[in-house]
Amino acid sequence: MNKKVLEFENVTFSYKEKKQGRSVPILQSLNVDIYDQEFITIVGASGSGKSTLFRLITGLEDPDEGKIFINGQIHESRLGKAGYMPQQDLLMPWRTVLENAALPLELKGIHKEEARKQIVPLLEEFGLAGMENRFPHELSGGMRQRVSFLRTSLSGSNVLLLDEPFSALDAITRLSMQEWLMAQWEKRKNTIIFITHDVNEALFLSDRIFVFSEKPVHTLEEVNVPLSRPRDLQDLNQPDMIELREHLLEQLRGKVTV
Ligand SMILES: Nc1ncnc2c1ncn2[C@@H]1O[C@H](COP(=O)(O)OP(=O)(O)OP(=O)(O)O)[C@@H](O)[C@H]1O
Ligand SMILES: [Mg+2]
Repeated sequence: MNKKVLEFENVTFSYKEKKQGRSVPILQSLNVDIYDQEFITIVGASGSGKSTLFRLITGLEDPDEGKIFINGQIHESRLGKAGYMPQQDLLMPWRTVLENAALPLELKGIHKEEARKQIVPLLEEFGLAGMENRFPHELSGGMRQRVSFLRTSLSGSNVLLLDEPFSALDAITRLSMQEWLMAQWEKRKNTIIFITHDVNEALFLSDRIFVFSEKPVHTLEEVNVPLSRPRDLQDLNQPDMIELREHLLEQLRGKVTV
């Protein structure tokens, strides 16, 4: 068994609404274990707490109770300990591709020229060759997502959190981005935790799928995807995969909890 890269131990969390002073419970004594080199996807209704889980991992929120371990350690501050690609595209419109990608390196105090040297050889791999001086509005949606992903990869962490990275893309671009991401992951062998609303995307990409199906979330339903790798989109047409898809859709149906 690979080593654990992320562990939630009895984590409880609620948002405290400032205006009404109400508490909105999201997680209730949740335990999660994620291992090195796994590809995990998280599915669940809108408002079920998926992005909140990422905010807890990244240290943007702190648990009310329980512990979060990253690479076996509890950190005083978890900021920067995991690579994070938030749900909204956060590219800075006034920075070029290169300057956007360089942000995590700059935050580590790496000089501009040195950052450039590290990034330029990666541009081709990320499908961005020749794009380094373009601004975000001059890129296609798929390219923008690849810049965001490049930036997330440069965080230097072995754990990458991707919050619905492909949701704004058209169907064809989305399929090619899924294949591209899978190839990147197979090459780099980091751990990816990926949120999506698309059950096919979850089945195609992941080793395990976690379903957020209660609120507050106490246990995550866990589905193992029985496909070997490398995978092909055609594999999703196998009878056991069709059955699994039905099972997942059944779990998700009618559970809008905003
Ligand atoms: N800062 C906040 N203060 C109070 N409540 C919040 C805050 N952020 C999120 N919430 C509430 O917490 C719940 C979970 O939100 P979260 O963003 O984690 O959902 P999600 O599963 O990512 O949804 P989606 O699929 O729509 O992105 C929602 O009910 C939301 O309204
Ligand atoms: Mg979300």
